[in-house]
Amino acid sequence: MAGFLRPGERAPVAFGLSFDSDRGEAGGAAPVYNKNERLALAEQRRRLPIYAHRTELLYLVETHATTVVVGETGSGKTTQLPQYLHEAGWTQGGKLVACTQPRRVAAMTVAARVAEEMGCRLGQEVGYAIRFEDVSTPGVTKIRFCTDGVLLREMMSDPLLLKYSVVMVDEAHERSLATDMLLGLLKKVQRRRPDLRVVISSATIEAEKMARFFDTSNVRRPRAHAELPAEGAAPSRSPALMSVEGRTHSVQVHYLEAPTNDYLTAAVEAAVAIHREDLPGDILIFLTGQDECETVVRLLEDEGRRLQRSKLKWRLKPVALYAGLPAAHQLGVFEPAPRGVRKVVVATNIAETSVTLEGIVYVVDSCFAKQRCYNPLTGLESLLIAPISKASAAQRAGRAGRVRPGHCFRLCTEEDYESKLPATTVPEMQRSDLSGAVLQLKSLGVDNIMTFEWLAPPPAETMIRALETLHALGALDLDARLSRPVGTQVADLPLDPPLARMLLASSELGCTAEVLTVVAMLSVQSVWAPGGKREVDEAKARFSVAEGDLISYLNVWKAWGESGRSKKWAVAHRVMHRSMLRAADIREQLQAHLRRLGLRQGSALEGVSLLDHAEALTTVRKALAAGMFINAAKLTEELAVKLSDQQDMGASVYRLVRSAGGDAAAAKLRIHHSSVLFRCRPQWVLFYAAEQNDSGWYEMRDVLAIESAWLTELAPHMYRLVPLNPQLRR
Ligand code: CDP
Ligand code: MG
Repeated sequence: MAGFLRPGERAPVAFGLSFDSDRGEAGGAAPVYNKNERLALAEQRRRLPIYAHRTELLYLVETHATTVVVGETGSGKTTQLPQYLHEAGWTQGGKLVACTQPRRVAAMTVAARVAEEMGCRLGQEVGYAIRFEDVSTPGVTKIRFCTDGVLLREMMSDPLLLKYSVVMVDEAHERSLATDMLLGLLKKVQRRRPDLRVVISSATIEAEKMARFFDTSNVRRPRAHAELPAEGAAPSRSPALMSVEGRTHSVQVHYLEAPTNDYLTAAVEAAVAIHREDLPGDILIFLTGQDECETVVRLLEDEGRRLQRSKLKWRLKPVALYAGLPAAHQLGVFEPAPRGVRKVVVATNIAETSVTLEGIVYVVDSCFAKQRCYNPLTGLESLLIAPISKASAAQRAGRAGRVRPGHCFRLCTEEDYESKLPATTVPEMQRSDLSGAVLQLKSLGVDNIMTFEWLAPPPAETMIRALETLHALGALDLDARLSRPVGTQVADLPLDPPLARMLLASSELGCTAEVLTVVAMLSVQSVWAPGGKREVDEAKARFSVAEGDLISYLNVWKAWGESGRSKKWAVAHRVMHRSMLRAADIREQLQAHLRRLGLRQGSALEGVSLLDHAEALTTVRKALAAGMFINAAKLTEELAVKLSDQQDMGASVYRLVRSAGGDAAAAKLRIHHSSVLFRCRPQWVLFYAAEQNDSGWYEMRDVLAIESAWLTELAPHMYRLVPLNPQLRR
């Protein structure tokens, strides 16, 4: 585990400030949980800090092409601004107000809240759209919350976003890849559409930058614009910047006196210490991932049982909150705790800005988060636990001051906080694989990616790697233009380029039925119900085949189908029924996409005799390989010597095939223990994803066993046979 201490060292949890000294400030008040219930929603709306700025905001939006709004979390930006715009007439004449969110869960919860406030059913006047799930009604929906990625995709059919009168880019400071792309594109759209209004909501730290980026007051209008009829007076082209003071209370920050290298235990101890103070208020703990959240929830449940005999006023109720959680569970987290219960929300940084949690008075911050990082030299990603930025830490602390003065406990020393936390987080686009982004921009007519106006430019190596990948997949021609039909079709499908490519290949090879299933199953969070490793392994074993995970998914799908899509069957086989239903839905949507593209569909395995089964399966595997061949790995003679505790010793080491040397050649891969091939040693494999984790290994997930000959057959432009005699090489 990452930490500021060397392994083995462990300091007791002790905060620099005595917790007791704050008793006066936080104590006294009645439980806050039922406040919402008591106040009428309309009254609540008027009480939000943003309400005082309603008229001014509407004036600014009217008179400025771009308005940047800054305000504390909870001041009402997300839920109120779209409603104000709707009330002021921006949704008349059939136009919509869009509000984008970097996270799916935020789009869903916020839409539900606004629908409630407007007294309509979700999906009517207020709707949301996330990938593969559109809960809105054409002609009826006026306010549409969606992920930034969904709006980007919409631009492919509606490049000027003519459907919308206002686009609000929410949480822009998070700098998600899709948000950054959207900002660049919106700036372009504004040139053609002076009637479009852009509202950007951002934390203070990025606000000036956003405003500068959208300032085109010194730029001469392109001639095309002059021909467009102007509606009323043109809005100002220098953005308005407006700040909404939050209704937040002070938050006292506490640090550890000595560093800890076990922030899980430290977090549990801190939560228990807070609980023992017996003052009202929920606790929010920030950790880095699902496993950690589940572990801490379990530990806190144990503590809760132990504390039951003590005469405390509240009972501990720990709940986990992370992105992979089924939606229903996630929504449960937002319900206020009943009387006599202290909710402890154990969350990943999903709770940092995008969701509203009522009643939090105490924040316990590990000061770490999982950071995804892409290495363009290896083409591999790592997901490492890294210190968060000071900007994030401030956001997290702010979650404590919503209902009353709060406390934030950072599980590090003040010195470490000052010296080891960077000021801001590196934008996602500077640490991601950009092949999907480049393809989308190309299909939107942005041909020269290098001159596209980014808020911050992407690293050149990443761009080159993205172009290479797309070229290898056949989506770009030699002049780096979108190829026809492959490139345009890959771009058209709402999938990662490799997945889209395998779907196209499956059409050529007559096995769309199978590949659609695999792609749909790869697009859901988790096929297997959570549980002990042994139980899950046993469940998987029933469907496992030597060809690997992707083919095993086919077996799960088939058996689930034969059960009549029965929930009982799913529970008995430790398969997540909800995931299967979602996969079925995604599969249907993708099938419709294929139809729309006019692609031939067929099944390789249906009605095939046992004799021909292997051959038919090879066809399916080749189609899958046609999308994944870039990620090829070969077994080496080496054995991994030291692995982390939970995993077996002696796993086999794989090397990337495409590497010509350098970083990529040095990368050591192994099959992730969740793969059905974990104990097998296939010579050649393809993997859909590999991630470097804290153990230093690149672990391959969703593995497909292949024959080496397929590489040269499917991708002769990338792989060629090398004579075995080493002297003949090169
Ligand atoms: O966007 P911002 O952080 O400025 O605030 P918001 O998300 O619009 O939330 C404003 C208020 O709406 C919060 O203070 C909550 O009281 C309420 N809200 C809620 O109760 N449930 C939600 N899902 C979202 C907001
Ligand atoms: Mg918000």
